[in-house]
Amino acid sequence: MLGPVNVAGIPYRTIWPEPDGTAVGVIDQTGLPHRFATVRLASSAEVARAIREMLVRGAPLIGAAAAYGLALALRSDCSDASLATAHAALLATRPTAVNLRWALDRVRRTVAPLPPPARAAAAWTEAGRIADADVASNRMLGEHGLGVLLPLAQSRPAGRPLQILTHCNAGWLATVDLGTALAPVYHAHDRGLPVHVWVDETRPRNQGAALTAWELGQHGVPHTLIADNAGGHLMQRGLVDVVIVGADRIAANGDVANKIGTYLKALAARDCGVPFYVAAPTSTIDPTCVTGAAITVEERDAREVTHIRGIDSSGQLVEVCLAPRATAAANPAFDITPARLVTALITEHGLFPATTAALRALDLAPPPPPQNAPNTP
Ligand code: MRU
Repeated sequence: MLGPVNVAGIPYRTIWPEPDGTAVGVIDQTGLPHRFATVRLASSAEVARAIREMLVRGAPLIGAAAAYGLALALRSDCSDASLATAHAALLATRPTAVNLRWALDRVRRTVAPLPPPARAAAAWTEAGRIADADVASNRMLGEHGLGVLLPLAQSRPAGRPLQILTHCNAGWLATVDLGTALAPVYHAHDRGLPVHVWVDETRPRNQGAALTAWELGQHGVPHTLIADNAGGHLMQRGLVDVVIVGADRIAANGDVANKIGTYLKALAARDCGVPFYVAAPTSTIDPTCVTGAAITVEERDAREVTHIRGIDSSGQLVEVCLAPRATAAANPAFDITPARLVTALITEHGLFPATTAALRALDLAPPPPPQNAPNTP
């Protein structure tokens, strides 16, 4: 069975509760791959800042972190007003990943009917359940994804590893553990199936170069970093057997919001006859968005486009400017891949076509709010 991911031989999750319920620890992903550092978040405001500034990122991890953030808010003030204010503040941190709303609503549904003094402990427990469920779900998703990779591996030329292309980081670092798009890859690698991953650098924040390349390296999975523009060329040359990406929100019709650039990979994959899979837990499916057009796409700071971060020859983390100083830049952080370009969705419940009928059958409608839920925006 796929175990927890190790960093220098030590098993780590990306988020862990302190036993007395006063804080959570997280890996500060803004320093990777050059600095591995952990940070203690002891208040809802600190969790909100960590999500907004992307110390933690990736849809499932954002959800788990926000759940702990709501529990921390209730620890300092267990009133209805505090619940509503913290829920709204955490929800506002990032707009596209629906796991954020899903996790916050789940904690709120659990605690709202309780007497206020019981809320903080119940919220903490529920946040822990969300984190544990993410790991269990990724393990199942990885098993189902392995079922996709095995037949593809059998049909590849003898002696060549299975060539997988992925975009952004939908690995261990984007979840509580194991990852979504990378869970099948880790399963395959751990079972001795020769795999090789083409890692899109994923401009502008370079989650591929900084995070995916780092975590694949920690696990010993062979991989090669490529410029985002190289994927289509590699597919034309028959050097990609399958594309697997994650998702930040999947609309009711199967349209997929994921990191900017995903759509172009899906177009190239369709043109080249390469299967294109989206791996995501069902908590990423948003039945309230009828199509991808209804999904809010986060617009981030233009500085992420005009500037780039890395280490210099003396080992210092530095940021340099790439463009003329006065150049205007736009930075949409996600795009929508139409359902018709998706070969199938890989979820913890198995494979599903990206269609309204298939997703409706999953019955994802949230339960109605409890009778005495506090007013929330
Ligand atoms: O902006 P980010 O780094 O949070 O974006 C992450 C992605 O787009 C991932 O592909 C997505 O969240 C899936 S995570 C398992």
